[in-house]
Amino acid sequence: MEEIKVFCPATIANVSCGFDVLGLALDSVGDEMTVRKIPENTIRITKILGQDLPLETDNNVSGVAGLALLAKSDYEGGFEIEIDKRIKPGSGIGSSAASSAGAVWAMNELLGKPFSNLELVQFAMQGEKLASDVAHADNVAPAIYGGFTLVRSYDPLDIIPISTPSELYATVIHPQIEIKTSDSRKILRTTISLAQGIQQWGNLGGLIAGLYQSDYDLIGRSLHDHIVEPIRSILIPAFDKIKANSIEAGALGCGISGSGPSIFALSKGEANAQKVADSMKETYKNIGVAFDIHISKVNTQGVKKIA
Ligand code: HSE
Repeated sequence: MEEIKVFCPATIANVSCGFDVLGLALDSVGDEMTVRKIPENTIRITKILGQDLPLETDNNVSGVAGLALLAKSDYEGGFEIEIDKRIKPGSGIGSSAASSAGAVWAMNELLGKPFSNLELVQFAMQGEKLASDVAHADNVAPAIYGGFTLVRSYDPLDIIPISTPSELYATVIHPQIEIKTSDSRKILRTTISLAQGIQQWGNLGGLIAGLYQSDYDLIGRSLHDHIVEPIRSILIPAFDKIKANSIEAGALGCGISGSGPSIFALSKGEANAQKVADSMKETYKNIGVAFDIHISKVNTQGVKKIA
């Protein structure tokens, strides 16, 4: 195979109680990327549609992730990349992760899959480091593995794929402002109290158990974040109102998607996810906030070949 076209999914990182460790992949939102082999031992970004992003390899997340893969490969050629960028940067649904993960996944396919998913995550994390100064894996891991993933440890990197209940749907609303992950990390405190830790790891354990047992009620009881959400939500228009109305409309839980400004809610079944979407839309329409909105099943496949 000389060329491949892939779908690179958007992702929801943190999922309330799992800051920097938990994430899930979406089905209905993502970029498309074409990657082809070239004889030169380098990465070239030749085209980016949809967004104004740098084409220079060292300054582009897919370029940097691709270079990390090339450095560990005995392949003597390189790759050319074209990106149809449909996920807006700074939206909180893993725009940089989709490009980094999509690039290395596609390259691995073209090389006959010499690398494991764990290694691909390590390469893609270099893209995240370029985008946000921190090589976090909670977007790139679900983008590559699909479904929910847990980063049990960063050193050594240990990614655990988590079971996905079949009726779980996500609603994501993106108020049309941009928040850079690097900026929204700077405002966080670097220490937490023991009491906050107890609440958070109780909820994270509860959420993982709920996902494995398809216990939607337990999933809902666990979707809380008492550490990051109270600080970051101040940057997001009408966050408290959107959240309260979503829960009222039947969502299991609602929180900030990644570093925001997108807000996500999880629901049991598509009809409930639609009701939550209607309530979110109405809330923003009433106060005049422009938005994009998506409803998606959890994508259990991750990056996938489309041509
Ligand atoms: N865990 C990261 C953060 C995700 O919240 O900063 C960024 O998408």
